[in-house]
Amino acid sequence: MNSSSAQPFLPPPLTLTTPPTATPNPTTTPSPTAKATATATATATATATPTAISSCEQRVPTDNLLILVTRQYGLSRDYEPADLAPLSDYLPVTITLGYPTEVRQVLVEPLVRLINDMLAAGLQPTIVSGYRSYAAQAIAWNKWQTQTPDSAAIVSAPPGHSEHQLGTTIDFGSPELPGIVGQENIQFHTYFYMTSEGQWLAEHAHEYGFTLSYPREAFDLTGFFYEPWHYRYVGPELATLLKTQGLTLTEYLLLTQPAPCVP
Ligand code: DAL
Ligand code: ZN
Repeated sequence: MNSSSAQPFLPPPLTLTTPPTATPNPTTTPSPTAKATATATATATATATPTAISSCEQRVPTDNLLILVTRQYGLSRDYEPADLAPLSDYLPVTITLGYPTEVRQVLVEPLVRLINDMLAAGLQPTIVSGYRSYAAQAIAWNKWQTQTPDSAAIVSAPPGHSEHQLGTTIDFGSPELPGIVGQENIQFHTYFYMTSEGQWLAEHAHEYGFTLSYPREAFDLTGFFYEPWHYRYVGPELATLLKTQGLTLTEYLLLTQPAPCVP
């Protein structure tokens, strides 16, 4: 089945265990209780589902767009999407920054359209990251563990547990970010939500099929800190449903699919 054309199922209303934060948190400093809460929530959901079939670390999914990847539900180190395409074939170096970024072919057209519409609106989007292999994620994870061990677990996914391994996830950048943060060359910071590019994406990304994986309000539900730059492609129909219903993809998939493996 082509999941991108599947009709989204609207799950029942959810109760957040933590109320939405009214004031944006401008740092990447985590709440020490957040990870534990998220783990408990997701594990309880998985335990209640009797159809779990395999170890989380051994999953080799199809290239379905709706694969659940969280701290609990990982991917095999061998999983690599079948249709990776180099973005440098489709976008100029001013957007790709010269990085050899790849994404799945299925999102090339909507991504290029999104970028072109941002440029037409006078914005200057960049793409900082796309597909990351298990090995590349291990390098990123180890870097965070070394540099900021206290917060590494909620700002970076362990290898096998990153949506970037799916090849459908993009980290966007903005030339405004260093000036807003006051730090030269910074690429990831919560203040991305204040940039012109971050604000446009927050308003329009769903129209192109991209959903914000880790919103500020969903800390307890996703287990990851607010990442206003990290968008995953799920198709415009589901992305719009998630946006209008205020749902994260993680919540939606936990409610609408059987647990994919034993955490
Ligand atoms: N920063 C996100 C959680 C990742 O590493 O995939
Ligand atoms: Zn990301």
